[in-house]
Amino acid sequence: MEKLIKQAATDLANSKRLVALTGAGISVESNIPPFRGKGGVWERFDPMEYAHIDAFMKNPKKVWDVLLREMKGIIDIAKPNDAHLGLVRLERLGLLKTIITQNVDGLHQKAGSTDVIEFHGTFARHRCLDCGKPKNTEDILLTVIPPTCECGGIYRPEIIFFGEMIPPEHLLRSQQISSACDVMLVMGTSAVVQPASMMPVIAKENGAKVIEINPERTPLTETVSDYLIQGKAGEKMNRIMVELEQLL
Ligand code: OAD
Repeated sequence: MEKLIKQAATDLANSKRLVALTGAGISVESNIPPFRGKGGVWERFDPMEYAHIDAFMKNPKKVWDVLLREMKGIIDIAKPNDAHLGLVRLERLGLLKTIITQNVDGLHQKAGSTDVIEFHGTFARHRCLDCGKPKNTEDILLTVIPPTCECGGIYRPEIIFFGEMIPPEHLLRSQQISSACDVMLVMGTSAVVQPASMMPVIAKENGAKVIEINPERTPLTETVSDYLIQGKAGEKMNRIMVELEQLL
């Protein structure tokens, strides 16, 4: 493992066009549960019943009452952890420009990262289904469920529900930077949700090195990743950054 930490530090320090792809696992050390695996959100809730756009449109009260209320409570108080901060440090060192994240928790921006593609949207903003008026999440009060606009319309978070399209500009830009990067750092994703999980494949096909940080193996591990640093994102990132700072 020590060898791989040093290898990752060297690969990151030598990279010219580094990109990070992050998933729910990077926020686990910020007390936000992942979707899959032990303690995952989809262990308790059927995503087709609570996270599909058709389910939300059919019964927004139910989806707000069960899934979105809980998500808001957890995200509202979450703070970035060492993995988010490590990526900020990489940006400030001039090594990392863009993060592609599947997360809707806004923790990369809270930590200080400035170029974040929110592939699955964001919980930070909501909009009225009727008049389209936007509202920040801190102004969405859950005294009445579902939260409603002055016009009477229901608010929805600007997340991408299952059954919705990835915003084309996010998809296109992610594909472009994935094909142009020389190193991709993939942290905390099970890599089973398309099209996000295609980004490391695109990177690899275009000659990039793919480094994974995850406590578990994923579908990328055998065929796409150059190596897996097995463990928690925050802990491993800290160790990589200590090594990397010595190389600069
Ligand atoms: P998942 O919940 O599918 O996977 C989380 C991954 O994080 C797993 O591979 C875990 O092994 C890993 N993990 C757990 N703890 C970790 C830690 N401390 N450090 C690093 N890794 C850790 O999350 P995503 O891959 O992000 O989509 O899921 C992709 C999409 O599926 C989500 O964006 C969401 C979900 O349904 C939508 O809501 C549209």
